[in-house]
Amino acid sequence: EKGNYRHYMLKEIFEQPTVVAQTLRSYLRPAEERVALPQIDFDISAIDRVTIVACGTSYYAGMVAKYWFEQFARVPVDIDFASEFRYRDPVLNPGGLALFISQSGETADTLAALKHCKANGQVIAAVVNVPTSSMAREADLLLPTHAGPEIGVASTKAFTCQLAVLAALAAHLAVKKGRLSREEEAEIVSHLVETPAALNAALDHDDAIAAIAPLIVPARDVLYLGRGADFPLALEGALKLKEISYIHAEGYASGEMKHGPIALIDEHVPVIVLAPSGPLFEKTVSNMQEVQARGGKVVLISDAAGIAEAGEGCMATIEMPSVHPLIAPLVYAVPVQLLAYHVAVAKGTDVDQPRNLAKSVTVE
Ligand code: M6R
Repeated sequence: EKGNYRHYMLKEIFEQPTVVAQTLRSYLRPAEERVALPQIDFDISAIDRVTIVACGTSYYAGMVAKYWFEQFARVPVDIDFASEFRYRDPVLNPGGLALFISQSGETADTLAALKHCKANGQVIAAVVNVPTSSMAREADLLLPTHAGPEIGVASTKAFTCQLAVLAALAAHLAVKKGRLSREEEAEIVSHLVETPAALNAALDHDDAIAAIAPLIVPARDVLYLGRGADFPLALEGALKLKEISYIHAEGYASGEMKHGPIALIDEHVPVIVLAPSGPLFEKTVSNMQEVQARGGKVVLISDAAGIAEAGEGCMATIEMPSVHPLIAPLVYAVPVQLLAYHVAVAKGTDVDQPRNLAKSVTVE
């Protein structure tokens, strides 16, 4: 039921604080400041390589996870689109963990990749939202997201719940591998626990984001820029805009701009910059200024400190709560989802059932 919401997508965006909290509840023990994964019947500390395979938005969640696994657990991570992975004859040495991420648990390419990894001696972990799905059944380690049914074709709450599970898994692996001290684990848990409140604070800016949508509606092309673990959010923002508003959009790592895409910049191509305060802020801002120097019109998404420092000269700014860089990818999902949503509504497209798309892609 949509309740008071005009679309399922909007309802699902607003459910995120609740469902992320619900998901985190099964992966954290906040009172003890510990990560707590379901019983694992293999030695996870022996994992020396992780292969992540997924499609679409779930793939972008995997891209964020790569940053976390490498940063916290110091385990090398390969990540592939399932459709590429299946046909490139990947090297799969024994002792590897193959991690599949899927809302539906039925995506044909991801499921086939899972079976391939199983046949090639990998331990199979699956982050899925549908507990009765094929992937859930095939996994050695099932890590459910508790997002509840996602009806809108554009994935929103499943994505942030995937990120919540993946952050907990990265921290757990790091603890088991002796890479995180007790204090560091406690600190990670405390940041994750703050996520639902931060998501609520992000949702409070819905009206301000709706007011910016008319600036994007006339565009034919839009660029999204981000760095580090927020780079996949730029890709996700662009995917959301493409799929529901039919405006062409591309996500780029902000440092890649000057290697080609900056040639596209003029006053007709809005550039959405994701730049939370943190170690990469100044770098992203200098890329943003390169865009502005060429007449580019920027929408800066940052926190109050970031906007105070770099907001001048932007076409618009969207203020996010000030959060630890670990949870920024979850929080910054909200403004890119809402911006795509309001642009699509303004264009009058079928938000919940965009043309040419199905909720679950069960054919190759
Ligand atoms: O069910 P899955 O997570 O495996 O689906 C993967 C993609 O088809 C899905 O994320 C798709 O990209 C969404 N429509 C994006 O909003």
